[in-house]
Amino acid sequence: MTADHHTTVDHPAVTAGPGTAAAPAGAEGELGQGRAWAQAGRLGRAAAVAHPNIALIKYWGKRDEDLVLPAADSLSLTLDVFATTTRVRLAPGAAGDRVLLNGAPAAEPARARVVAFLDLVRSLTGRQAPAVVDSRNTVPTGAGLASSASGFAALAVAAAAAYGLSTGARGLSRLARRGSGSACRSLFGGFAQWHAAAHTSGAAADLASYAEPVPVAAALDVALVIVVVDAGPKAVSSRAAMRRTVATSPLYRPWVDSSGQDLRQMRAALAGGDLAAVGEIAERNALGMHATMLAARPAVRYLAPASLTALDVVLRLRRDGVAAYATMDAGPNVKVLCAGHQAHLVEAAVRQAVPGASVLVARPGPGARLARGDGG
Ligand code: PMV
Repeated sequence: MTADHHTTVDHPAVTAGPGTAAAPAGAEGELGQGRAWAQAGRLGRAAAVAHPNIALIKYWGKRDEDLVLPAADSLSLTLDVFATTTRVRLAPGAAGDRVLLNGAPAAEPARARVVAFLDLVRSLTGRQAPAVVDSRNTVPTGAGLASSASGFAALAVAAAAAYGLSTGARGLSRLARRGSGSACRSLFGGFAQWHAAAHTSGAAADLASYAEPVPVAAALDVALVIVVVDAGPKAVSSRAAMRRTVATSPLYRPWVDSSGQDLRQMRAALAGGDLAAVGEIAERNALGMHATMLAARPAVRYLAPASLTALDVVLRLRRDGVAAYATMDAGPNVKVLCAGHQAHLVEAAVRQAVPGASVLVARPGPGARLARGDGG
C-alpha cells in the first residue's frame, strides 16, 4: 500500500473527531479501518451494500442547501429489504465518470448528483481519477421508498473506500449526508438519529451533523409493513418539495418545533420498549409533515386515494386492538409500524383492503458495509 493511495483527510466533512461512533454492525472489521478497506484504496475499487431507512421522526427541510444541514433532528429505522449494491472503480485513463443505474447509463439529474458526489470525494482525497459507478437497486427508484438513502449510503462507502479515504462510521455518515440527507442514517443498522446541530452553522455544523445509533429496549419487536400503492417516480422530488415547503408553508415552523418534542418523546418510548407510544409519535409526526406540504403554495400533495384507504385500514386495525401505526414519506406509499409477531395480521388486512398494492414485511436491517466482491 502506498501512502497516497490511502489518504487520511483532515477535512470537516469527514474528520471523525473525538468519540467517533462504533463501526456499524456487520462491517468487515471496523468500517473505514479494516484490511478490506485498505485493500480497496490500494486497488482503487470497492463494492458496498446499504439498506434504506424509514424515518419515524422525519427530516423535512434544510437550513443549508450546500452542506445538506437539516432544520431539525430526525430518527429512523434501517430496514432489511430493498438493498442497494454499488461498485466504484477508478478509471484513470477515462475521459470522465461513467454512472450505471441497474445496468443502464443513469439519466440526468441522477448522473449529475453522483458526479458531484464523486467530485466531493476527490476533493477530500486529492485523487483526481474519474470512476465507473455501477449501482443496483432492489427498490423502485424515486417512489418515496428511500432509494436515495440506500443509494448514497452505498455510494459513500464504496467511493470512500475506492478513493482511499480514511475515516470512521461517523465521517462516512457525514459524507453520505452530502449526497442525500436521509442517507446519513443508513450507515447504521436498526434505529439511528441524525443530529441537525441546529445551534451551529457552516463548518462547525458540518462537523456536528451526522447520524448515530439510538439505544432501544431489547424487548422491542417491530416490523414495518410496506404498502406500495404506486411504484412509479414521484411528481415532485423531495428536494424541490422541501424547498417549497420551507419557503412558503405557514405550518412549517410549528411542525419543526413540535418535531423536537416528538423526538425527545420517541427516544424515551424506544428506550422503554413502548410500541404504542413509538407508533403514535411516528404517525403524528408524519401526518404533520404532510400537513406542512399541503399548506405550501402551491400545495405539494403526495397522498393518493389508495394512501387514504391504507390509512383507514390502520385506524380499523387499532380499533380492533392491533397496535398498527402509519408513516408516509415523499410519495403515496404507506408504511405500517407494528409488532413483529403481528405483521402477518397487518399484511393480510392491507392486502384485502388495498387491492392492487404490493405489500411486503420489512424488519430492522443492518448498516452499510463493504461487500464481498469488488467487481474488479
Ligand atoms: O434524503 P432525501 O432528500 O431523500 O429526503 C427524505 C425525506 C423523507 O424521506 C420524506 C423523510 C426522511 O426523514 O427520510
